[in-house]
Amino acid sequence: MYAARMTEEIWQRLLALRRDPSATSQSPDNAEAAWRLYAPIALRDRPLVLAQVGQSLDGRVATPTGDAQDVSGCDGIAHLHRCRALVDAVVVGVGTVVADDPSLSVRAVPGPNPVRVVIDCNGRIPPNAKMLRDGGAPVLIVQADDAPEPPPESEVVRLPRRGGGLHPRDILDELAARGLTGILVEGGAKTIARFIDADLVDRLHVSIAPIIIGSGPMGTTLAPVDRLSEARRPKVNVYDIGTDFVFDCDFRSVRRRVSSAESENILMSDTA
Ligand SMILES: NC(=O)c1ccc[n+]([C@@H]2O[C@H](COP(=O)([O-])OP(=O)(O)OC[C@H]3O[C@@H](n4cnc5c(N)ncnc54)[C@H](OP(=O)(O)O)[C@@H]3O)[C@@H](O)[C@H]2O)c1
Repeated sequence: MYAARMTEEIWQRLLALRRDPSATSQSPDNAEAAWRLYAPIALRDRPLVLAQVGQSLDGRVATPTGDAQDVSGCDGIAHLHRCRALVDAVVVGVGTVVADDPSLSVRAVPGPNPVRVVIDCNGRIPPNAKMLRDGGAPVLIVQADDAPEPPPESEVVRLPRRGGGLHPRDILDELAARGLTGILVEGGAKTIARFIDADLVDRLHVSIAPIIIGSGPMGTTLAPVDRLSEARRPKVNVYDIGTDFVFDCDFRSVRRRVSSAESENILMSDTA
């Protein structure tokens, strides 16, 4: 386990790296752990899909009544906001917008706000959602081409349905065409599961707070495997970030080939 402590100097160097990949990618003195955790997100030498989930020790993201406020400690929240600041776009499913009405902005650290992307296949985003009215970073709503009319004045991307939903690959292609190649998939569980099951996540950050909720929704539930030998075993580094612990899973080390039949199955049923 690495102790990743952030300082203003390290953070400014990471933001510089995000702006300009030719800026030094050498870690500043005594910053190796923080650099190892964040530099792969800041460095724009190739597209990146990072998924992050903030959960309890027992893998839950909320109570059974839906109280999801402050599962993560203050350093876990700062970690999430750093991840937002280092990417081009943050992606959530419409379930998260309905449940939490988030703003998805960068507030806990200084840094730029990413474009906000809501996957709303069936056009059910509330027209009074905070992010549609707060005048912050642009919001892009991704809908199926047969979805009802989106809220007025929203920017909408319409994609064909494939199987029971939208293929995460189509969504990433659409974002890349807009120059958005550093992507944070922030949740909820159903949305993250679709990206992981489609084998499109490069890194998964599981940020664990030392709290046991006992029951309630899980952070990730993927398509089932029969045998443990089929389970994903990514290369993992663990970081002590203060109040929470981040498991940084490198999925590039365990790329699976998803067959087209498997890919359609991903879209036919939610695994979370
Ligand atoms: N702790 C954390 O890190 C964290 C982060 C974010 C959210 N959350 C929590 O997660 C909960 C919500 O999560 P959730 O899993 O229920 O919902 P969700 O993932 O936020 O949204 C799922 C919905 O988004 C749409 N969607 C997503 N991907 C799609 C695709 N590829 N194709 C078609 N539709 C797609 C579908 O909408 P339709 O149903 O309309 O088809 C789907 O039901 C909230 O309670 C929130 O507090 C926790």
